[in-house]
Amino acid sequence: MKKNLAVIGYGGQGGWHADHALKSDVVSLAGIYDIDPKRAELAESRGIHAYASLEEVLADPAVDIVTVATPNDVHKQIVLDSLAAGKNVICEKPVEMSCAAVDEMIAAAKAAGKLFTVHQNRRWDVDFLAMKQIIESGKIGETIRIESRIHGSRGIPSDWRCQKEHGGGMILDWGVHLIDQMLQLIPDEIDHVYCNVTHITNDEVDDGFGLTITFKTGKTAYIEVGTYNFIALPRFYMQSQHGTALIRDWREKAQVAHCLHWHESDVMPVQTAAGITKTMAPRDSVTMETYEVERPSSDVHDFYRNVCAAIDGREEQIVKHCEIRRVMKVMEAAFASAESGLPVAFDEAR
Ligand SMILES: NC(=O)c1ccc[n+]([C@@H]2O[C@H](COP(=O)([O-])OP(=O)(O)OC[C@H]3O[C@@H](n4cnc5c(N)ncnc54)[C@H](O)[C@@H]3O)[C@@H](O)[C@H]2O)c1
Repeated sequence: MKKNLAVIGYGGQGGWHADHALKSDVVSLAGIYDIDPKRAELAESRGIHAYASLEEVLADPAVDIVTVATPNDVHKQIVLDSLAAGKNVICEKPVEMSCAAVDEMIAAAKAAGKLFTVHQNRRWDVDFLAMKQIIESGKIGETIRIESRIHGSRGIPSDWRCQKEHGGGMILDWGVHLIDQMLQLIPDEIDHVYCNVTHITNDEVDDGFGLTITFKTGKTAYIEVGTYNFIALPRFYMQSQHGTALIRDWREKAQVAHCLHWHESDVMPVQTAAGITKTMAPRDSVTMETYEVERPSSDVHDFYRNVCAAIDGREEQIVKHCEIRRVMKVMEAAFASAESGLPVAFDEAR
């Protein structure tokens, strides 16, 4: 039987959840609640029930799951109230702005015995899944370094995302997705984190950042978000022991260069610019093969399918409490590093 979903906050992302619920095989849309009457009117004009208050949603015994899609600074109280009312809760990312707040939410979920998870929908991004598939295939060996970038040129949207008090800025907005993906690609223990932020179009919050995560195994990850990049660098770039993988754009297939034989004793120097070089001489098909990887199939509604199965005890929730907390810890360390200008040691045990 389908579970009944109520969406709190019927803005851009709340609308996305509602639309998906209307087409879902696992949830039915009980309704929405938005503090703004205009959003409630819009929902009703679309045939969606608009609750008059959050209390009304939480008092409705038909509601099984509450999805919180309000601005970042008003997630926590709605999550806590929903759990206290015995609802299962999905919270939009970033779940909160500090580990202390995340801990409070996790403790409340445990006390209520209800499911609590975060909508890390970008685990279903095809580009990310392609990188995961390349790593898991083992064909180009152990990862050395992964670079993950999102470059846009329109600055930060001119809403609450520009404002610190509402949890604005790109670390919290896009960083939370890219960090979560990266920690899935490189599950090793983190040694330290180093981050620079940019303020090209906004003084109050970061409008971009470059974050290096160094793992205890020596692997490194570099995550970069830019909102003032009129030419975008590739989405993913990975150096591995036996090759390189590249995804230029989220719409494109991954390209892989697989080094078949390392040693070349007879490299011919090539002309580059005003000189010659052996170091940068291109490889031929004897020592390297190149191929494209088919785009993996993906259905983001598997997130909701998993939530429903996890509520019924049939599956483990995909986005786990320890992962939600670890992503928050990396963001906290990134902010601390950007503030001090120094690398920040990462304590996995904290
Ligand atoms: N996972 C994703 O891909 C993704 C994409 C976009 C946004 N988000 C997240 O979704 C959340 C909402 O972002 P958005 O882009 O939809 O913002 P938005 O401004 O478009 O919508 C937020 C809505 O919440 C309503 N609201 C504010 N306070 C409320 C309250 N106390 N109770 C009920 N409603 C309230 C506002 O009136 C507004 O309609 C944010 O946490 C954001 O980070 C996630």
